[in-house]
Amino acid sequence: MRQEPLRGLLLAGGTGSRLRPLTYTGAKQLLPVANKPILFYVVEAMVAAGVREIAVVVGDTRAEVEAALGDGRRFGATLTYVPQARPLGLADAVRTAQPVLGDAPFLMVLGDNLLRGGYGSLVERFRAGPWAAAILVSPVDRPQAFGVAVLDPAGRVVRLVEKPRDPPSRLALVGAYCFDPLVHTVIADLQPSPRGEYEITDAIQGLVDRGLPVDAAVVEGWWKDTGRPEDILEANRLVLEDRTEFRLEGTVSADSQVTGRVALGPGSRVVDSVLRGPAVLGADVVVEHAYIGPYTALGDGCVLRNSEIEHSVVLPGCRIEDVPARIDQSLLGRDVVLTGRPHRPRAVRLVLGDRSQAEL
Ligand code: DAU
Repeated sequence: MRQEPLRGLLLAGGTGSRLRPLTYTGAKQLLPVANKPILFYVVEAMVAAGVREIAVVVGDTRAEVEAALGDGRRFGATLTYVPQARPLGLADAVRTAQPVLGDAPFLMVLGDNLLRGGYGSLVERFRAGPWAAAILVSPVDRPQAFGVAVLDPAGRVVRLVEKPRDPPSRLALVGAYCFDPLVHTVIADLQPSPRGEYEITDAIQGLVDRGLPVDAAVVEGWWKDTGRPEDILEANRLVLEDRTEFRLEGTVSADSQVTGRVALGPGSRVVDSVLRGPAVLGADVVVEHAYIGPYTALGDGCVLRNSEIEHSVVLPGCRIEDVPARIDQSLLGRDVVLTGRPHRPRAVRLVLGDRSQAEL
């Protein structure tokens, strides 16, 4: 049984290329789910698992991540930022943070992964046993896109492969790991993988190869890697389903209809509209002659007029007016303007940034 508290290692570097154009202007880990940055859920879950001294690995988006998380006091944590020169892999991030982690055991989590059940049970299992590492796994349909683990009947890890072409199992590594400081020795000897990264998966395999015990548990409840736009929408749906509470802080006109769990932020105004939860609307949002359906999150200062939307994530400052079709399963970045075009010719006019997607 380990007595000492675990340190934390939070990875918030990387590039976010699969979420462009949204990540051209910001860190992928700060994209909002149910109007709260993903990274906030992660830090809150670390603190809930008793991990308060957290090293945060940052890359090009350091300034933005630091501005959002601050010194960690608001979460009840102490954060130390560790710049990683280039995103050379998760094991490289560990190596970069070693001077801050010292020789303490630690909980490492990926800043773009959401886990309904948090990290409490993982930390408990790790502390209770003789483990050199403990990981969480979850069955997935596309194991090729993840690190994959093979377990023995007792739940010990026997083999791991990163992004296998021919997956030996369907169990993906969820982005949460506990490590004994021994892992630093293994990482020091690591070679880059075929994709040119220092893989944490290979480091764990190194522990197994040295005959050290590595524990694995299947996660209960949902887990979401928010790497692609459709994952953000799904994470938004899951979090809204789980956590939305009915709370109207703005004003709702008598001719409007609000059903289900809807959270409306202060200074917001709803006129002649239909709102169906679970949905969350930030502060100073204006909704007029509009429909907002389930699983929608509208950020602060958005305006929705004569338009319909559902199952979508809209970042702050967007204006949506007179759009003829219902907007569904959409992800809009900051300050996007979508308007209908009442006059002829009935055409579609678009100003879209690099790598935007529109289905018309
Ligand atoms: O989502 C779970 C998967 O995460 C695991 O199944 C894989 O084994 C693991 O390698 C990882 O795969 P990804 O390809 O999804 O990792 P990604 O490049 O998205 O990086 C995960 C997080 O770590 C992300 O928040 C960015 C951060 N990061 C990434 C790299 C490569 C860093 O801070 N530094 C880095 O060098």
